[in-house]
Amino acid sequence: METIFSGIQPSGIPTIGNYIGAMKQFIALQENYDCYYCIVDEHAITVPQDRIKLREQIRGLTALYLAVGLDPAKSTIFIQSEVPAHTQAAWIVQCNISLGELERMTQFKDKSAKSNRAGVSAGLLTYPPLMVADIILYQSNFVPVGEDQKQHLELTRDFVDRFNNKYGNGNQVLTLPEVKIPKFGGRIMSLQEPTKKMSKSDDNQKGFISMLDDPASIRKKIKSAVTDSSGVIEFDVENKPGISNLLTIYSAFSGETIESITPRYEGVGYGKFKEDLAEAVIAVMEPIQERYYALLKSDELDEILDAGAKHANAVANKTLKKMQNAVGLGRKR
Ligand code: AQP
Repeated sequence: METIFSGIQPSGIPTIGNYIGAMKQFIALQENYDCYYCIVDEHAITVPQDRIKLREQIRGLTALYLAVGLDPAKSTIFIQSEVPAHTQAAWIVQCNISLGELERMTQFKDKSAKSNRAGVSAGLLTYPPLMVADIILYQSNFVPVGEDQKQHLELTRDFVDRFNNKYGNGNQVLTLPEVKIPKFGGRIMSLQEPTKKMSKSDDNQKGFISMLDDPASIRKKIKSAVTDSSGVIEFDVENKPGISNLLTIYSAFSGETIESITPRYEGVGYGKFKEDLAEAVIAVMEPIQERYYALLKSDELDEILDAGAKHANAVANKTLKKMQNAVGLGRKR
């Protein structure tokens, strides 16, 4: 059976962008693949985090994984920091990736540009090697992610090729992974700045819909979403980024195609369209939120995470040992 790995950072409450771009794919894939879904807490600390909140967000993300439909009987659900092989393998990766490659990563450029470059953590720069380690440790064939992670996946593939050629002695030590980006909804945009990606750590709360926003907030945020003055509902990313983004969200939540949505709003205007969109989002989010709050109170979460960490450690340690042997670290065992 082929293997899937993906993760989400507990750097805030996931947004509907994380849901459409990543989580929705996770659920479908667990039926036919050996899936590893990680709460990548070590990635989250590349930028400052409040420790109490971080712990809550780790637990919260676990509950959300389950609430959206991940099944621990089918998928391994675990916390990155509970599998030390991730940071151990990341060191080997860092030593085989150049500084130039890391400095070219657009996510590093974006996140470091927001603050004083010399003052950002070194972890922000070395985050992609940790992500490479996450993926290769499970010999992953596919990595379901949103569009923003495409460049990191290319880096992973370059690393795997390089590592196998340099250290493999004719063998394929590591599996070459492929990225899986949804055909539609791989990049949901901010509701306030529709040319910028929707992000859970955006300072502007009105720019994103969190997966735990209550119905009133969802309605309010969609009502105040930036559109344009033409009043025409059509999909045209270039000239109408706001409406096009809302149409993408509508389609992802209703399951309808954009072609079937737009004719209903001819001559109707943005108000009614936004009202219906909000209801489509609420209809999906409400039952997820109900399950989420029930799960948060249960003991089930710790049991699932313990079992997930045990299985993930066994698999990851096997690959780590292979990598160490290939490079010549430690003693032959
Ligand atoms: N706007 C988005 N549209 C579609 N997919 C998205 N993803 C993130 N934003 C969008 C996908 O969600 C998964 C988890 O992302 P992450 O938490 O690991 O980090 P990120 O990509 O940096 O997401 P955020 O929400 O922007 O987090 P912060 O604000 O903490 O940096 C990934 O598969 C990602 O592609």
